[in-house]
Amino acid sequence: MAVLTVPDKDLRFTDPTEIAGQLDGVGIDYERWENLKQVSSDAADQEILDGYAGEIELLKQKGGYVTADVINIVPTTEGLDAMLNKFNKEHWHDEDEVRFIVKGHGLFHIAPENGDVVSIEMEAGDMIRVPRGTRHWFNLCGDKTVRAIRLFQDTSGWTPHYTDSGVDQSYQPLCFGVTYFPQNV
Ligand SMILES: [Fe+2]
Repeated sequence: MAVLTVPDKDLRFTDPTEIAGQLDGVGIDYERWENLKQVSSDAADQEILDGYAGEIELLKQKGGYVTADVINIVPTTEGLDAMLNKFNKEHWHDEDEVRFIVKGHGLFHIAPENGDVVSIEMEAGDMIRVPRGTRHWFNLCGDKTVRAIRLFQDTSGWTPHYTDSGVDQSYQPLCFGVTYFPQNV
């Protein structure tokens, strides 16, 4: 299950409805997609996209997304640490960051304009939409594995703009599993 924390207030939520409510308060969409049994998490990318075609279509209509793909990160992914070091510092994008987790885990920290920093540990079945311009950063968990459907309004917009605020240094990337600290490269 997903875990939402508000580290500065020492709050933790594990109920999906409460998590969705907390995130809605800071402009983030969170959903549980419950048809996980219908598609194996080890299926080919296209089978994953076909299996979730209904959910993907709804999101496309809602957010104007034009393409969807599947990203596969495993401990042996080439250049893993370099890739992660791009996204574990506070940044924002010109388009929404939409992720549905099929397998593994991911930890998002979100720094809303008005409100406390929240962290959300995502696992299979969790969908998050971080709107364009929202400051956030991302870490893997101890399994160093994440397989996720991504949706794009325009793939060229998905470039990180760094804030260089250093705020990410104030929050430990804690997952329920063993936390993974990438080596600096
Ligand atoms: Fe991002």
